Amino acid sequence: MINRGGDLRPHPLDLRLERLDPGVELVHRQGIEVLPSEQDERIVGLVREKLVQVHGGRISLPDRAVNPKGLRRRAFGARRGRMDAIPDKMIAIDPAAAGGPEVLQPVERPVPRPGPGELLIRVEAAGVNRPDVMQRLGFYPPPPGAPTIPGLEVAGTIVGGGEARLGERVCALVAGGGYAEYCVAPAGQCLPVPGDLTMIEAAALPETFFTVWTNLFQRGGAKAGDTVLVHGGTSGIGTAAILLGKLFGLTVVVTAGSAEKCARALEIGAAHAIDYRAQDFVAEVKRITGGAGVAAVLDMVGGDYVPRNLACLAEEGRHVSIAAQRGPSVEIPIWDVMRKRLVLTGSTLRARPAGFKASLADELRREVWPHLESGRIRPVIHSTFPLADAAGAHRLMDSGEHVGKIVLEVA
Ligand SMILES: NC(=O)c1ccc[n+]([C@@H]2O[C@H](COP(=O)([O-])OP(=O)(O)OC[C@H]3O[C@@H](n4cnc5c(N)ncnc54)[C@H](OP(=O)(O)O)[C@@H]3O)[C@@H](O)[C@H]2O)c1
Repeated sequence: MINRGGDLRPHPLDLRLERLDPGVELVHRQGIEVLPSEQDERIVGLVREKLVQVHGGRISLPDRAVNPKGLRRRAFGARRGRMDAIPDKMIAIDPAAAGGPEVLQPVERPVPRPGPGELLIRVEAAGVNRPDVMQRLGFYPPPPGAPTIPGLEVAGTIVGGGEARLGERVCALVAGGGYAEYCVAPAGQCLPVPGDLTMIEAAALPETFFTVWTNLFQRGGAKAGDTVLVHGGTSGIGTAAILLGKLFGLTVVVTAGSAEKCARALEIGAAHAIDYRAQDFVAEVKRITGGAGVAAVLDMVGGDYVPRNLACLAEEGRHVSIAAQRGPSVEIPIWDVMRKRLVLTGSTLRARPAGFKASLADELRREVWPHLESGRIRPVIHSTFPLADAAGAHRLMDSGEHVGKIVLEVA
């Protein structure tokens, strides 16, 4: 319920109101009445069919009834005072063939329908990740049952599926389908948009935060006081690892490909940044740790980096592989593994079952979301592109010039 002067967040079953004044009152749940005290208060969305008596001053409704793409709406339409109807068709990026960024052209697709345990999200922003590039190139096909539309994370409003959550502003981890106006997500993978984060910032969270949580903290066992090495310190994953590592008391050492990127990594919160093109990261890690080595390496490089990473590890160290940009076949100095009792592990998030992802979501909600709510951390956004220019977003990611996340603006 809406409080007077307190937390003014409406219950998702009720209304979405903007610029609420404490004078606004929800009288009772069934026959909802809104008593705005100021003329510029406005209702931005009504989530239920049965509504609404409005008393008081002039209320301007957003022009949601306008349908800029001319798509067919269902009969009940987007009338004043009602939630948008769900159209039959939507704009999405769904390339017919693998290739360069130019294959990412907007096309019309059916709006997906949520199955049991799923929610339909009207997408406002969608994160772009390196795995989307791999998918575009034809090297990372969607797992069975996942949409061919790329996109592993979205933020938006729940408009279908679970009645109890209609109208909730969420960000969600998905196995595909994010580059679209509507996207279906398993209910357990939908987390609230935290604090005052924008939809763009919220869309930048799921893929990197879930990945870093499960790989650096769960598999890598990183804990307060540990020093860890994270390659790709200015990547989406790397910036999330810096934020979360610092938050939980780790000393985060990163590598990055230029002095400028190293400077940015330090600004974001890394304790040390090694320019891997100019310096030998193994020697640097030895110097930084006084010869002791790091407790864990989060590796997205693979290939010849793996034996060098093992040389960076302290006794009982953990090596966690999340990608193999320099190749999947590696030569392991097995004697080092035995002598230092090292653990080599790794994972890929996308194909894990929904139950596992829901358990990650629960942990993140408990351990990390309060810090996003309070504003102590926020994701690093490099730039945004309209959905229709997903090709431009991929061109930027291909260039490797970005620091942090690239996000598509959908609505
Ligand atoms: N296993 C999983 O579940 C999972 C989930 C998500 C992402 N990933 C993987 O994680 C990686 C990062 O994803 P993202 O979306 O954050 O991509 P991104 O922002 O494009 O980052 C790619 C990063 O790789 C770094 N890199 C490339 N070669 C390197 C080298 N030789 N030494 C050090 N760093 C190097 C780049 O560093 P510079 O630009 O400084 O050269 C860049 O920061 C990708 O490989 C992606 O496939 C895995």
